Parts: sequence; structure tokens; C-alpha cells
Amino acid sequence: MDFPKERQAIIEVGQRLYDRGLVVANDGNVSMRLPDGSILCTPTGVSKGGMTPEMLPRVSLDGTVLYAMEGKGPSSEIKMHLRVYERDQSANGVVHAHPPYATAFAIRGETFDAPMMPETVVALPSIPLAGYATPSTHEVPDSIEPFVGTTSACLLEHHGALTWGPSLEQAMLSMERLEYMATVTAITRQLGGERRLSDERIMRLKEIFGT
Ligand code: 13P
Repeated sequence: MDFPKERQAIIEVGQRLYDRGLVVANDGNVSMRLPDGSILCTPTGVSKGGMTPEMLPRVSLDGTVLYAMEGKGPSSEIKMHLRVYERDQSANGVVHAHPPYATAFAIRGETFDAPMMPETVVALPSIPLAGYATPSTHEVPDSIEPFVGTTSACLLEHHGALTWGPSLEQAMLSMERLEYMATVTAITRQLGGERRLSDERIMRLKEIFGT
């Protein structure tokens, strides 16, 4: 098989998403930009916890299928992934998942990026909400496009979350952090409400970490 290391990386991210409960059943999709500029992605309709190297399709940036095992076409959301790669040359990995807390916020039509912890101010300061789009249609890439190039994560209204980054690993870490932020926000609300970092503390973080 071509690109064995990259295939293994997608399989491992799929397993992590599944094992951490960031996706269930056949949900979610993952992709990676390859050194030759083509895109390796997950096939449609399979559990991301049980993928094998040969079942990962490869497509060109315009969506042409370059390789697919019989019966294992590219993810139904490949257009959303391709839009990220097209609009952000620094993006080399994309993760779409349905993490339960983040998805609950997405269903409410509400985000959760209040600056409450230094780590999130530095690593994931903004998580915008992309308006509802019918899955698998061009509406989905159109809905996320305004955020590509300005942040590395967004919520998909009534659907789930999308993260991207300079590597697949970075996109995966952002997905973990995003769900953690959603969980902590929900817990702080149960404890009486969110408590933001002061502007002064945020400014100091920006000075030191340059975000
Ligand atoms: P695919 O199996 O086609 O990638 O779709 C899963 C999903 O989560 C759609 O949003």
C-alpha cells in the first residue's frame, strides 16, 4: 500500500476518537494532506474504531477519487475537508467528530469559548458556530469557510465539531481540547456559572505566549 505511515496515523486517530467517545457508531471522519498534495481520508459509513490501511481512500483536492477499495468510497463529508485544505495552505489534518458535550452546545446553537483557563486562551481562543447545513451537501463547506484561516476549530450547528491544524495530531489535540472545554463549561454552569479570566490576565498571557 502507498503512504503506509500516513494510513497508520489516520487509523490511530480514528481509534482514539472512538475510544474516547468523541464519536460513536459510524460517526465522524478524518483526513490528512499527503506529501504529493492529495488527501487521504476515512471511508464513508465505517466505525472509526476498526479501520484497516487498505480501506482508506485517497482523493485529489478537487475531489477526484484516486484510490478506493470496492464499496469503500470517501467520507460523505469529504467536501468539508477539501474546503479546509483549499483555503488554508497550512492545514495538513482535519478531524470531524460528534463529542457529546460539544455537540450538545452545537444543538443549543451556543458556543463555549469564554476565556476561563490559560491553556484554552493560548491553544484554542475561539470556537465559532457554523450555521446549520445539511450533511454531505455543499452547504457544509460553505458554512465553515468563513472560519478557515482565522481559527482552527468550529462547531457545526445541530451536528458536531470540526478541527484542523498543521498536522493531523494537532487537529486531534484540538478536538480533545474542544470537548474538554465544553465539558468544563457545562460543569461550571452546574456549580453556579462561568468565571472568566480578567482582561489583565488575558493580556499577560498574550504578551508571554504571543497569541
Ligand atoms: P461518513 O461516514 O460518510 O464520513 O459520515 C459520518 C458523519 O459523521 C457525517 O457527519
